[in-house]
Amino acid sequence: MKKVLILAFIILTLIIACKQTPKQEQVQTPPAVSAEEPKEDTTETAEISGAEKSDKGIGPIKELKLAAIDQNMVKTGEQLFQSKCALCHTLDQKKVGPPLRDEMEEHSPEFIMNLLLNTEEMQQKNEHMKAEVKEYVTVMPDPELTQDQARAILEYLRSAVETEPKK
Ligand code: HEC
Repeated sequence: MKKVLILAFIILTLIIACKQTPKQEQVQTPPAVSAEEPKEDTTETAEISGAEKSDKGIGPIKELKLAAIDQNMVKTGEQLFQSKCALCHTLDQKKVGPPLRDEMEEHSPEFIMNLLLNTEEMQQKNEHMKAEVKEYVTVMPDPELTQDQARAILEYLRSAVETEPKK
């Protein structure tokens, strides 16, 4: 009787061992081509609230209709940007101030113009700007631009956001 039991035990062990082998092999095979696809950043557009885009800010610019990009204005704007803004801003990296690509996508052109032309009042009274001022250590100084200069910088930023790839 004991022999039968032992035999049965051995057979059972063998069966289990046989069944396990293919399983283990399966586990060891490397997974077929990784299914992970390069992720595209889709969160950004979701973050942009309609409320902000319709905020025109406080200042002289009540309504600004944008036409096709004017390359002459872009040139002037780029020079002004380099001398008056680049110290604190880039398109894609946080410097002293926020990266401007996002800001261009978030705000109406009127908001940007009013911020440039009426900086202090915007910082003191506009809800979004009040929060920004709190967030950043430095407060953006009034860049002291004429309306044409501010408009040229806006044109440069529009163009840069469209033509320069994200870094
Ligand atoms: C001395 C540094 C400095 C300079 C120069 C400067 N900025 Fe700023 N900018 C800031 C800071 C800091 C903020 C964050 C808000 C604040 O503190 O006013 C900001 C905010 C902004 C914002 C975004 C506001 C928002 O909604 O978050 C825009 C747009 C902007 N700046 C554009 C410009 C342009 C265009 C120029 C050049 C004419 C310029 N800035 C020059 C520091 C600067």
